Amino acid sequence: MKTYTGQSLREMYLNFFKDRGHKVIPSASLIPENDPTVLFTTAGMHPLVPYLLGEKHPAGTRLTDVQKCVRTGDIDDVGDERHCTFFEMLGNWSLGDYFKEEMIPWSYEFLTGEKYLGIPADKIAVTVFGGDETIPRDDEAAALWEKSGIKKENIYYMPRENNWWGPAGLTGPCGTDTEMFVIRKPKCSPTCNPDCNCGAFLEIWNDVFMRFNKQADGSFVELSQKNVDTGMGLERALCVLNGKSSVYETDIFENAIKTIAELTGKNYGEDEETTKSFRVLLDHCRTATFMLGDEKGIVPSNTDQGYILRRIIRRAVRYGRKINLPEGSLAKISEAFIEYYKEVYPELNVNREKIAEELAKEEAKFTKTLQQGLKEFEKCLGGIERKNAFMSQKDPAYVPEKVIGGKQAFHLYDTYGFPVEITDEMAKERGFSVDIDGYKAAFEEHQNKSKAGSEQKFACGLADHKEATTALHTATHLLHAALKKVCSPEVNQKGSNITEERLRFDFNLPQPMTAEQIKAVEDLVNEVIAQDIPVVMKEISLDEAKQEGFTGLFESKYGEVVKTYTIGDFSKEICGGPHVESTGKLGKFKIQKEQSCGSGIRRIKAVLQND
Ligand code: ALA
Repeated sequence: MKTYTGQSLREMYLNFFKDRGHKVIPSASLIPENDPTVLFTTAGMHPLVPYLLGEKHPAGTRLTDVQKCVRTGDIDDVGDERHCTFFEMLGNWSLGDYFKEEMIPWSYEFLTGEKYLGIPADKIAVTVFGGDETIPRDDEAAALWEKSGIKKENIYYMPRENNWWGPAGLTGPCGTDTEMFVIRKPKCSPTCNPDCNCGAFLEIWNDVFMRFNKQADGSFVELSQKNVDTGMGLERALCVLNGKSSVYETDIFENAIKTIAELTGKNYGEDEETTKSFRVLLDHCRTATFMLGDEKGIVPSNTDQGYILRRIIRRAVRYGRKINLPEGSLAKISEAFIEYYKEVYPELNVNREKIAEELAKEEAKFTKTLQQGLKEFEKCLGGIERKNAFMSQKDPAYVPEKVIGGKQAFHLYDTYGFPVEITDEMAKERGFSVDIDGYKAAFEEHQNKSKAGSEQKFACGLADHKEATTALHTATHLLHAALKKVCSPEVNQKGSNITEERLRFDFNLPQPMTAEQIKAVEDLVNEVIAQDIPVVMKEISLDEAKQEGFTGLFESKYGEVVKTYTIGDFSKEICGGPHVESTGKLGKFKIQKEQSCGSGIRRIKAVLQND
């Protein structure tokens, strides 16, 4: 049996199609350009959607490539023999060029040809579309397979569920397909077929005959051109062709496995749990490396792609901990992948430092709270168990509840950085589940609260920081003038500070203000606000300002021009501004606190409220 490496299979595939008139195009970014309905590129055809819909591709109508892909739908299954979140997809395309008559014989030739994969024809099974109310069964494909040399008994008609592919996102090109399997061992029963997971049939390739465009309303419109889209997952194909039982037993993972073994002193394959941890680390570190190293690279965050990346890195940290992986190891594992891929995906090499830094940062962040979070998680399970024990004692028919509440799951996320999917996975390991809807509700409540919080923060419900502080600035002038009128003409400003939420004003006054004085100041200010008096700015010389009775600091240099603000005959101050145009928009003035602030100095905190 031949043994393939990732590179030998890549080259063989691309050359096969190059020899048949295809242009080799580079892999596109992992972040889709034209599809807002998905976060990552999920298949080789994904970046080609516009061309499958009819746009002209600059490289022609026959293309082939190896595309970086990410699918995270089955992330919880990573750790078994065959699931990966990142994979490379070998593919070739006809953009309105050839169709089944060429593609099926080519597939047969590549699979069985001595110069190519050389799989004996009787070890290959195929499935074709079995037909339904709208589209007839694909007898044409079946006949082409049979004519090529596939035994009739190895050709299976299957329902739409199995032999329909696409679209990649919610809308786009799709169609019936024919899938190819290597027969690894005898069928487990007379009814066993390629859909059975007994391991008799291992999928290796998929040819999609794309004739439809799925619309946003769920309907299908016939495309103006007939396309072919094929996909061969590199890791799975290598595993099958090399007669291995796991995708991790290929040269792609060799160096990274060694790195993990050196870092932990454990061996891949030594027992099931250890092997699972190795696989999760391998897969997740590789995916994170490609996400961070992508030409449109992303970084961990709490939304969209960044959240997926964060979740992947944190899941890796959790599994690393199970095999005593020392902190700071993820970047080292990643390094092994960069070395392996650097010729095929130069962007990884270009972004080497960024990848290492981001991995280290995220790993450190989560490691800090992991221990504490795990304790909290245990406490939570303990509480539920105790309640169950107590209830069962009282009522023997009581059915124990093994559900972690949404609020608790949110607490684990908010305080300890546990993505809810990780909490859910940990819960499942212990026979528990998480109330995901409850979590979502808690999450949303929190979002709304912090949103409301940040809105209230702005004085008087004004839209932004600038507007809010401007309003409070004007209110400070009114307060200053009102204090002079109510308490004493001797009152002068000794300090002032404004945030979006409140003003703070320090002034000289030998004794505390009485409640009546406070009320009188508030009323006076609110009266001026109600009168909607214009705030007038004038630039005059400091001397003029003094003469005209403006208050303010007069230490400035002689001859200097200053800005003065006048509010009717109520307030006249020298000030840099800015201020509102007229007092009407300030809302309601309210003193929240009046207190001492050093000897002979009082401090007022006040806000502007919505009416
Ligand atoms: N687009 C097809 C797949 O991903 C080939 O299987």
